[in-house]
Amino acid sequence: MSADGFTAGPPPGARPDWTIDQGWDAYTSQEHQVWMTLYERQSKLLPGRACDAFLRGLDALDLHRGGIPDFNRINEELNRLTGWSVVAVPGLVPDEVFFEHLANRRFPAGQFIRRPDQLDYLQEPDVFHDVFGHVPMLTDPTFADYMAAYGEGGLKAMGRGQLHNLARLYWYTVEFGLLQTEAGLRIYGAGIVSSHAESIFALDDPSPNRIGFDLERVMRTPYRIDDFQQAYFVIPSLQALLDATLQDFDRLYRDLERRPDIAIEAIAPGDAVITRGTQAYARARARPA
Ligand SMILES: [Fe+2]
Repeated sequence: MSADGFTAGPPPGARPDWTIDQGWDAYTSQEHQVWMTLYERQSKLLPGRACDAFLRGLDALDLHRGGIPDFNRINEELNRLTGWSVVAVPGLVPDEVFFEHLANRRFPAGQFIRRPDQLDYLQEPDVFHDVFGHVPMLTDPTFADYMAAYGEGGLKAMGRGQLHNLARLYWYTVEFGLLQTEAGLRIYGAGIVSSHAESIFALDDPSPNRIGFDLERVMRTPYRIDDFQQAYFVIPSLQALLDATLQDFDRLYRDLERRPDIAIEAIAPGDAVITRGTQAYARARARPA
């Protein structure tokens, strides 16, 4: 994930493209243990919840081994499958740096891991969110193409002042996307799949809306960074998601300038409603304690 507002260059010790060495040998046994605790909890929960491409990716990269993966090891297989690799970065990186990496099939991943007292909540993406959450999907050729197209789209959107719209696409797909399958809804978004509580909430809770994916609809919808989502968007297939990026984004951006945002909890005319949420969770959280 990226963040704007950076004025200086990379921090001391980072390369001009903000990458650093992962320093795998320097992880402590306690840090490896944090990964294993998170990993075991998610791997019990995700069969029947995460999409097949994600579960296949865990197998393909052999992420079942104990401890924080060595990027050099997983990159060999990832590169062979889809031409992607994982590069270590010190934390959030500027938008342009982030898009440039994605467009060149490099996924910037946080090198650090959360503390044992932060298993459920963390502000900045760490190696568990970035590698467990994001990297398995990058073994899928269609999703891998989508992520590279997103990076190229990001570089173009920067010059047009449209990043806030494009960031919503990333949020509601790469981070919090759901996929419709014959067996029911499945998770492909990294923000869900790396969170124990949201892996349950996103599929089972009656509170959020679940709405069929539509590119313009998604780009008009704000999102929450501080709590579970109030809306999830459901793609019919990974191919449909990739195909959506082949639209003329210039025309879309021009249309968006004339169209207002849609309230985060709203069902809008034309929505393909899969679940009309009660919004009970969000309302309860909004009430002062
Ligand atoms: Fe992420």
